[in-house]
Amino acid sequence: MSILKIIEYGNPILREKSKEVLKISKKIKTLVNDMLDTMYSANGVGLAGPQVGQNLRIFVIDVSDPKGPIDPMVFINPKIIKKSGAINSYEGCLSFVGAYTNVRRYSYVMVKALDLNGRPFIKEARDGSLLARAIQHEFDHLDGKLFIDHARNRFETDNILKKHNLPPVEVDKMLEEKELEDEIVAWEKAHPEDVQKQLEEIKEQQDQQEKN
Ligand code: NI
Repeated sequence: MSILKIIEYGNPILREKSKEVLKISKKIKTLVNDMLDTMYSANGVGLAGPQVGQNLRIFVIDVSDPKGPIDPMVFINPKIIKKSGAINSYEGCLSFVGAYTNVRRYSYVMVKALDLNGRPFIKEARDGSLLARAIQHEFDHLDGKLFIDHARNRFETDNILKKHNLPPVEVDKMLEEKELEDEIVAWEKAHPEDVQKQLEEIKEQQDQQEKN
């Protein structure tokens, strides 16, 4: 087991489309275990192949309480087979150290993938849960997409990236997502108290980061 170097935003590897895993060989198993070690050592909730320089369709996630036992999930050759609803998600990425921004996500996803033994499984994640958002975030990495491509406010995101000495958003990669945005805006209009609560949570997270 070893801790791998995490590729940073700006490296073209993160923009490449990853290849299917053809055989879950010993090498792949070692890679997955190293990815888990790397994710835990960086206090992340997810990590995808390209982030460790391997353009292979693999990602790992653990959304369990950091104070409790670990709950590693491995997704090999994943496919998102259903998605619906829209939510605002305040996200970061291990390839963007310290930079968090508001992005658009589906609130529900169903994903089909292989586990480390090559057995297919289906996972559902609902209600804009951390798992639902993490699956979309990590899945994107396999297609060379990044969370900032889903940014709700390009200029705000650019300021955040600048503050963390990261390259600016790649405008040609940004996703329009008009339907998702309209749905989020409508929800926010109908739930002002929840939006306020969300803003307070984000503020708290930001304060926490600044302390770290
Ligand atoms: Ni990421």
